[in-house]
Amino acid sequence: MELVVATRNKDKVREIKELLSDLKVRILTHEDFPNFPSVVEDGKNLKENALKKARAIAKFTGKLALADDSGLEVEALGGAPGVFSSRFAGENATYEDNNQKLLSLLKGVPPEKRGAVFRCVIAIIDPEGREVVVEGVCRGRITEKPRGKGGFGYDPVFEPEGSERTFAQMSLEEKNRISHRAKALKKAKEALRKLKVLSGYGSS
Ligand code: IMP
Repeated sequence: MELVVATRNKDKVREIKELLSDLKVRILTHEDFPNFPSVVEDGKNLKENALKKARAIAKFTGKLALADDSGLEVEALGGAPGVFSSRFAGENATYEDNNQKLLSLLKGVPPEKRGAVFRCVIAIIDPEGREVVVEGVCRGRITEKPRGKGGFGYDPVFEPEGSERTFAQMSLEEKNRISHRAKALKKAKEALRKLKVLSGYGSS
């Protein structure tokens, strides 16, 4: 059984591969297909973008396709950057640019008002065209300064609830035990089993 991950983001692919390592599926990415389509993420929310990416890749490859659209929602900013998380500081913004913009907008905001949520929406389309959409969230707060070198994106400025370390100060295994992506993928695996997409492949 093959599953195509519909993202060019290497950091997401690394986490998704690890989180699906208990399934007997071969994970394929854009590197396995010439002319893999680039999908414009112009949906009004994470679900629309995830479905758009999964549908495009399922159609292009004819295989089981999985897309992840995710973002950070900061309470003091009314839920921003949300669906604009990857381009918060501009179209070609780096992770660092986005973190700097976030920290400067939150300058002077006290710890109790720095609450935030990481949200991950996973869309899966099987070769028969059946669609599954699931969501995982991880609550936490935005730190005053970036801490840690692991992870990606907003990980250095996000401290999950119940931890004094940021995601970037955790190992991949630790982050994968509690992250929004881990929770969404757990639900995705359950849904795939119910649809019997994974049956006969020794999935656990
Ligand atoms: P998209 O899902 O490709 O639209 O982009 C999601 C953006 O949200 C990424 O570029 C990151 O900036 C951020 N993001 C999503 N998931 C994570 C995560 O697990 N850690 C840190 N940042 C994340």
